[in-house]
Amino acid sequence: MSESTNQIFVRAKKKINDIYGEIEEYVLETTTFITALHADAEIVDKAERELFESYVHKVAAIREVLQRDHMKVAFFGRTSNGKSSVINAMLREKILPSGIGHTTNCFCQVEGSDGGEAYLMKEGSDEKLNVVNIKQLANALCQEKLSESSLVRIFWPRERCSLLRDDVVFVDSPGVDVSANLDDWIDNHCINADVFVLVLNAESTMTRAEKQFFHTVSQKLSKPNIFILNNRWDASANEPEFQESELAKVKSQHTERCIDFLTKELKVSNEKEAAERVFFVSARETLQARIEEAKGNPPHMGAIAEGFQIRYFEFQDFERKFEECISQSAVKTKFQQHSSRGKSVSGDMRSMLDNIFERITIFRDLKQDQKNLLTERIQGTETQMMQVTREMKMKIHNMVEEVEEKVSKALNE
Ligand code: GTP
Ligand code: MG
Repeated sequence: MSESTNQIFVRAKKKINDIYGEIEEYVLETTTFITALHADAEIVDKAERELFESYVHKVAAIREVLQRDHMKVAFFGRTSNGKSSVINAMLREKILPSGIGHTTNCFCQVEGSDGGEAYLMKEGSDEKLNVVNIKQLANALCQEKLSESSLVRIFWPRERCSLLRDDVVFVDSPGVDVSANLDDWIDNHCINADVFVLVLNAESTMTRAEKQFFHTVSQKLSKPNIFILNNRWDASANEPEFQESELAKVKSQHTERCIDFLTKELKVSNEKEAAERVFFVSARETLQARIEEAKGNPPHMGAIAEGFQIRYFEFQDFERKFEECISQSAVKTKFQQHSSRGKSVSGDMRSMLDNIFERITIFRDLKQDQKNLLTERIQGTETQMMQVTREMKMKIHNMVEEVEEKVSKALNE
């Protein structure tokens, strides 16, 4: 099986984690050395020692963020356009509750869990609420008296979906038409999103609420990656009075509006890029097709209307372009930032070590000078002592001679 595009992110994440592991070792080792220098001799002062200790914390904090880093895609659009259905289709399973009326009542984040477990976690709590099946999940979400901007995290076994395995996190939202707190939504849930998907209803046209939401997103984020899905495209095939040519006209009208929105209004992409960001799909049909495939049946058994194959291909095309975009954007925005921070930490440390090394060299030279001086003094003393000793010896010698002379003189007398 060929490697998925998202493996770029997974590989880059592993590599940068390994590098940071090495940086951490290096920082710890250096800090131990610096602490010893501080204790033994006053080469390093307290402030410097504390600065080195702060690097240990800095690197540990970056490592923690790195462990948690993932690619994030957030879905927005009017109520009932099919946001939850699109996510389910991408996950190949009905995980998120979907239905007529206002279904999703808070932010729901689907992310991969290890160990085959499925559970929920509410904002501000570490408690794992076990989820056995989708019905229970829907009930759990309904029972919660949650504010629309709060977040429920749904952990779903990684092995059930390749996108979850590759660290993609899905964020589902309530309809943009039901909230007055769109700014809070963006601040709380969108700032670190790598890709946004605007889910439209192909049966109608883009609403002012949808447009306004993305205007705010593009004001707060620089050049967000936005995909537009014209969902429920299967419904167009069911229009009895629709001729093929009329269908093509509606499609080109929608396409033109979407491209204009991305290029002229939001100014987030050029014409060519924008043309690669607009799709006509049926989420419900794609999900049904994938559920059939999982049972070993041909996908068209999930078809809702004529033209299934084209819509199914278009959904797959969207997924391919989406994967390419999300992994590139995540590697660039997330890891570029981390590697430049890593570089600045190691750069700071190096210049500090250079300073310390210089100080040590000066200190050593000073010691050497002191040693030399001392040696000279000792040598001097030795010479002096030798001289004194020699003089003493002479004196004693003379004294002895004198005494001997006196004694023999006295004896002779
Ligand atoms: P809220 O959570 O209420 O904001 O809605 P949503 O945007 O998440 O829509 P949801 O996925 O719940 O879909 C609403 C209804 O539309 C459900 O009954 C879906 O089965 C149906 N639906 C979603 N996508 C399609 C589609 O492509 N074609 C058709 N025919 N029905 C769809
Ligand atoms: Mg929903």
